[in-house]
Amino acid sequence: MSNVAVVGTQWGDEGKGKIIDLLTENADIVARYQGGNNAGHTVIIKDNEFTLHLIPSGILHKDKKCVIGNGVVINPKALLEEISELENKGIEVNESNLYISKSAHVTMPYHIASETLKEERERGRIGTTLRGIGPTYVDKAARMGIRMCDLIDPDIFRAKLEENLDQINVLFEKIYGVKGFQVNKIFDEYSGYVEKLAPFIKDTVFMLNKAIDEGVSILFEGAQGALLDIDHGTYPYVTSSNSTAGGICTGLGVGPTKIDSIIGVVKAYTTRVGEGPFPTELKGDLGNKLRNAGPIGEYGRSTGRPRRCGWFDGVITGYSAMLNGLSRVAVTRLDILDDLEEINVCIAYEYNNKRLEEFPYRSDILQQCKPIYEKLPGWMESTVDTREYSRLPKNAQKYLNRLSELMNVPISIISVGPQRRQTIFVEKNL
Ligand code: IMP
Repeated sequence: MSNVAVVGTQWGDEGKGKIIDLLTENADIVARYQGGNNAGHTVIIKDNEFTLHLIPSGILHKDKKCVIGNGVVINPKALLEEISELENKGIEVNESNLYISKSAHVTMPYHIASETLKEERERGRIGTTLRGIGPTYVDKAARMGIRMCDLIDPDIFRAKLEENLDQINVLFEKIYGVKGFQVNKIFDEYSGYVEKLAPFIKDTVFMLNKAIDEGVSILFEGAQGALLDIDHGTYPYVTSSNSTAGGICTGLGVGPTKIDSIIGVVKAYTTRVGEGPFPTELKGDLGNKLRNAGPIGEYGRSTGRPRRCGWFDGVITGYSAMLNGLSRVAVTRLDILDDLEEINVCIAYEYNNKRLEEFPYRSDILQQCKPIYEKLPGWMESTVDTREYSRLPKNAQKYLNRLSELMNVPISIISVGPQRRQTIFVEKNL
């Protein structure tokens, strides 16, 4: 029995959904610790495709408990839509398999509106998902946020909403020059949501810690990726939460000694959605080829935006392995590289005529970094039906070994397609 974390090591969209789904077999509880409905985890089971935004993908397994922790920000309307989509596909969601933290902050209509206005006026400066995630965390840090426990008490909810709108409407009317929000309208709308969500709202911190003490196995589910972490990513082109493993402790109220191992999910190449530096980006035909290869192309699961694609970057993934203290990595989408004659891997950057091996903290410096590539021979053979590491083409094994060397972490899982069965377990007991 052990508690395992699964985190993204690049700019999100590494294929965490599938890896979490596979590892859920060994867990009793799956707990999400940060982000909101900006995330989009896709899981394909036979002919059914499920995209989850807020609910941990453990929900697709019978008898597993799913927790949305205090570090997550919740849009109740989006959450209810997600619940009903799952139910329409025959997945049961009830108070014994979904637990929502009382302390999780709530995304309000004015969060979404202010982000949309800001991004429009600054011409998509960050390229956010426009889900109001950043502004919800802003109110949390400003100590004016509305939490799930406030929503369930009508008097507290109304008082907090009135107090917030007194300030927020000034911003909308005087600065943005648009109409403000009405207390009654939001109060009525959100009271309707909370009536449906009330049975799920619980004290998840005690629930998780008691479960750990009883020897129950927990899988900690990360969203986004290390390079989008508010503290360690390509600031300001980041999301507004701690997506690295450190976020588990604060986002769930679980101490660091309770985490037994951390698995980093890494794509065999690199992608990014939204603005910000991306040294190994491929802008021409090759970038388009990577974007459209395989059964699922590289398009955002939450927003449908095309993802920027590029070569594997050993500088950012090595940095990410260090930040997260990774125990193992799971490499995804290896099959996408199957028909390339030659593959580049970035091993360092060139900046100001000097070799740079460490991630630079300033995005303007990263923007000017030129990747130094090592060329590796491709394998020109399909890997989609391979199930044993030893049966992978020799050049694919060499490629994987090089990625592992650059991250200084052993590989435990390799994914060669979206289906559960398209997986190579290098280590059997995870
Ligand atoms: P926000 O999280 O909506 O504030 O967006 C901030 C940045 O993070 C933008 O560049 C988004 O494209 C990116 N982002 C947020 N969530 C995800 C995700 O789940 N996958 C990939 N990128 C994401």
